[in-house]
Amino acid sequence: MNILLIGSGGREHALAWKLAQSPRCAQLWAAPGNPGIAEVIGAREGGCVELTLTDHAAVAAFCAEHAIALVVVGPEAPLVDGLADSLRSAGIAVFGPGKAAAQLEGSKGFTKDMCTRAGIPTAGYVRAKTAADAHAALTGFSLPVVIKADGLAAGKGVVIAQTAEEAAAAIDDMFGGAFGGAGAEVVIEEFLEGEEVSLFALTDGSAIALFGSAQDHKRVGEGDTGPNTGGMGAYSPAPVLTAELEARAMTEIIAPTVKAMADAGMPYSGVLFAGLMLTANGPKLIEYNCRFGDPECQVLMMRLESDLVALLDACARGELAGTPTPALSAESAITVVMAARGYPAAPASGGTIENIPAAEAHGAKVFHAGTSETAEGKLVARGGRVLNVTASGATLRQARDRAYAALAEIRFGDGFSRSDIGWRELARQA
Ligand code: AMP
Ligand code: GLY
Repeated sequence: MNILLIGSGGREHALAWKLAQSPRCAQLWAAPGNPGIAEVIGAREGGCVELTLTDHAAVAAFCAEHAIALVVVGPEAPLVDGLADSLRSAGIAVFGPGKAAAQLEGSKGFTKDMCTRAGIPTAGYVRAKTAADAHAALTGFSLPVVIKADGLAAGKGVVIAQTAEEAAAAIDDMFGGAFGGAGAEVVIEEFLEGEEVSLFALTDGSAIALFGSAQDHKRVGEGDTGPNTGGMGAYSPAPVLTAELEARAMTEIIAPTVKAMADAGMPYSGVLFAGLMLTANGPKLIEYNCRFGDPECQVLMMRLESDLVALLDACARGELAGTPTPALSAESAITVVMAARGYPAAPASGGTIENIPAAEAHGAKVFHAGTSETAEGKLVARGGRVLNVTASGATLRQARDRAYAALAEIRFGDGFSRSDIGWRELARQA
């Protein structure tokens, strides 16, 4: 079948790499794609194309012209914008939820209310539509307290306030427009203590298949310090989510979510990416994302042994129950992000990148996250997160050593990476 992949990051390069391995994949198109994805497409029919993703009719017309049988949406913005609904109305199968179901990521308040209705363990909360209501609600919380902009804020709309003053300032910032429309409503939450872990499950709206677990490093600096980023590295599996805890999370969180969404007349299909806090009272939901994590997807794809096209197509067509469940290798996989100097505040663009083949000779895979090619065919940095050096191994330590040996080969003078990806788990295994 012909496939159109939406997105341009390392997550999409990893998806393209795996989609192209499937015997079911005929033409592969990516909008807009990136140089790594272009390499995956290679001599196969298809290519990287510029489409205006907010022009749903134009995307549907492209699909008709190229006989696209499946659209795989990587990032959240087109899903929250309803691209999947528009394409489905045009008769095209889509991996990813429609606009109503994508509210699980698009509105934190929506998700909290769904948890309340379905009895899903999560932090206590209050939704506030005005600054006055939010200030008044603060008195009901102890410190620290978590203040969140309701809408999409590129991972930046969360403040963990240690003092009442910080909490009040966060509320005023959000209602003052610091996160644009995302802060028109605010959610105030009880602070949860524990270790965070990510759990991924596929669903077609009724059947559910466990995909796998991962942990990422969100802070830019060594030892998990400094500003938040999209993620500086990740590994899978996350042994801290034991089989028992994983089973609890599937029964107490994922399954009731899929049922609650179907009961509400907005069945969720695609991948459910649950951010969990492992508290003393068991796993609690921190947040949902309606897409694969970036860079968590890169390590999941590294471990995936099943046919990705078969799985995503089954979700899109409501046929997950009849499809073999995802098989992930027992190996560990790790990915280390190389970011452009100045990331996340002001990343430098244009730095040249060389020697990827030498890195891959170590058995690693280098996914392109933010690269572009100059007119002379030179690879340069385009975004904040530029490359994802990804490797697997019998143990996390082996995977880590392989990834860092590969990373050392890459010449990217304008780049930096963390040297301690996986530290928490490696310390436990030492
Ligand atoms: P979110 O965008 O909801 O994932 O929040 C970003 C980060 O803030 C999470 O990854 C957690 O580290 C932290 N966080 C969010 N909500 C809570 C909470 N209720 N308790 C403790 N930490 C939280
Ligand atoms: N790495 C976290 C995310 O994709 O949201």
